[in-house]
Amino acid sequence: MKQDTVLIIGANGQIGTALLPQLQHLYGYDRVIATDIRPSLQSTDIFETLDATDAAAIATIVKKYRITQIYHLAAVLSAKGETDPLWAWNLNMQTLLNVLEVARTYQIQKVFVPSSIAAFGEHAPKYETPQSTLLDPATVYGISKVAAENWSVYYHKRYGLDVRSLRYPGVISYQSMPGGGTTDYAVAIYHAAVQGLDFECFLAEDTLLPMIYMNDALRATLELMEAPAHQISVRTSYNLAGMSFTPAQVTASIQTYFPDFKTTYQPDFRQAIADSWPKSIDDSVARHDWGWKPAFDLPKMTHEMITHLTEIYHQVA
Ligand code: SER
Repeated sequence: MKQDTVLIIGANGQIGTALLPQLQHLYGYDRVIATDIRPSLQSTDIFETLDATDAAAIATIVKKYRITQIYHLAAVLSAKGETDPLWAWNLNMQTLLNVLEVARTYQIQKVFVPSSIAAFGEHAPKYETPQSTLLDPATVYGISKVAAENWSVYYHKRYGLDVRSLRYPGVISYQSMPGGGTTDYAVAIYHAAVQGLDFECFLAEDTLLPMIYMNDALRATLELMEAPAHQISVRTSYNLAGMSFTPAQVTASIQTYFPDFKTTYQPDFRQAIADSWPKSIDDSVARHDWGWKPAFDLPKMTHEMITHLTEIYHQVA
């Protein structure tokens, strides 16, 4: 077992919830410290309530547990950020800078800071969006991600901090609900189908977006974090691809299990956000540098989502 002590900030979020057990498996239960601003979800975890806008509070936990790695997963996502842009900017930037400063001060060995397809905007090529292109995001969330990518490079170059990052596509998972994102429909649609409900989609039926199944997102994260430092050529954030699909395509995929399932379309302000993002991602640099390869396509993911959610809803019933 590995000899690191890992801090997760935002452990109750969509990625944190699924990542926590994997890190516990890799490092041991007593070597993974889960934190979130909300109370713990699972009593078995080592958990501390943490407001990551408070740098001193992060430092206290880092010292208390002799942390050597940090996963900074707390953020306001794209759609929620648009409802209060300055609040979202302050929260995303303050927590990031706190993490980077604490990591520098206490000589943390590795830091993971996620970025997103939201870093891209109007002037990036829409299909097979390349690793290096113009970044002119349309949302405050995207602006905060581009800033985070640049701060990560700065801390790496100036202080030698080993910060690593992925530009996640929309992440699809059964473990918990995402909150406040534009790609969230692609999780909610499976919950509706399994409950025998129709689904009203807030994006138009032909809105093609890059997505990834949680298993692939977690494997990419851990593979990146375990790659030797000399293989990491990108210190902004790596493009990462899983699959791309539209609401109509995921509906059709679900209908192979539930033929009567129906989606209606009622696009709202999130349509403009989705339209500003890539439709597919070129992740060849990640493939080259640390051997990335996704394993899940839409049919395989639909099978897993329906199987797991059916189990969950049967347990609840
Ligand atoms: N899934 C995120 C969102 O929709 C994008 O990173 O905001």
